Amino acid sequence: MNIADLRQAANIDDFEASLLLSYVLRVSKAYLIAHAEEEVASRDQERFLQLVARREKGEPIAYILGRKEFFSLDFLVNSHTLIPRPETELIIEIVREKMSSALCWNILELGTGSGAISLVLGKLYPLSHIVASEVDEQTLAVAAKNKFNHRIANVDFVLSDWFSKLSGKFHAIISNPPYLSSNDPHLKEGDIRFEPQKALIAGETGLEAYQAILQKAGRYLVEDGYIFLEHGFDQGEQVQGLLQQKGFKNIETRKDLNGLGRVTFGCYSGIN
Ligand SMILES: C[S@@+](CC[C@H](N)C(=O)[O-])C[C@H]1O[C@@H](n2cnc3c(N)ncnc32)[C@H](O)[C@@H]1O
Repeated sequence: MNIADLRQAANIDDFEASLLLSYVLRVSKAYLIAHAEEEVASRDQERFLQLVARREKGEPIAYILGRKEFFSLDFLVNSHTLIPRPETELIIEIVREKMSSALCWNILELGTGSGAISLVLGKLYPLSHIVASEVDEQTLAVAAKNKFNHRIANVDFVLSDWFSKLSGKFHAIISNPPYLSSNDPHLKEGDIRFEPQKALIAGETGLEAYQAILQKAGRYLVEDGYIFLEHGFDQGEQVQGLLQQKGFKNIETRKDLNGLGRVTFGCYSGIN
């Protein structure tokens, strides 16, 4: 079969078929178009059809390719890591708005997954030091590989249940923690079925991770230090309420490109 025949034979979206075929053949998508009549070796045909079969069963394309782009950087991902979402770029944009990259900050990320947020911040804030915690050892191994691949020296990963292995004070805490409730119907739909439950499910209400983080956040923040929290589109008001209870001021929720409240942030008053 030639390139064009193979793409047609795949019973998946043509764009995804082209991603998988360019991955197998190690060529660009433009090459596939320019060389549509080129014969594909039977070994590569077989490999391509195996990947297509995985996609047909619903496995996310990012897990099949083993990578995902986030903030224009390429990150390794696997079934131990959440696939970084484009919506999560918003939290980084807000940090950039509030904290100058010309200064030295101590920044803490909680629940780093593939390390995407911290490693992007490491690049954007070369004078700052970023510590990132993650509770799962296999997830943290992926973050460490991403740090190595991008050669980012100012980010340190720590195996830690939220703050349990951390000490010191930070100018900002950033987190995109698990925020789904255990009976959320979305857990049975689409790509999310393949992602680690630890990365998705907070508990019965979906707010448990915010409660656990905010219970201790004040001890680890300097006065007027920031907390930036990503959350579900319908959790903004509840997260604002939790921040108020724990002594945060200047609280705001920002919307993503779809007009949905996605990130709530505030400054620590030093009280509570
Ligand atoms: C929603 S994912 C976010 C991953 C990454 N920061 C991102 O935005 O793509 C939440 C991450 O928090 C981690 N996590 C869950 N509970 C944790 C805990 N108690 N302490 C530290 N990390 C935790 C999960 O393993 C997962 O990697």
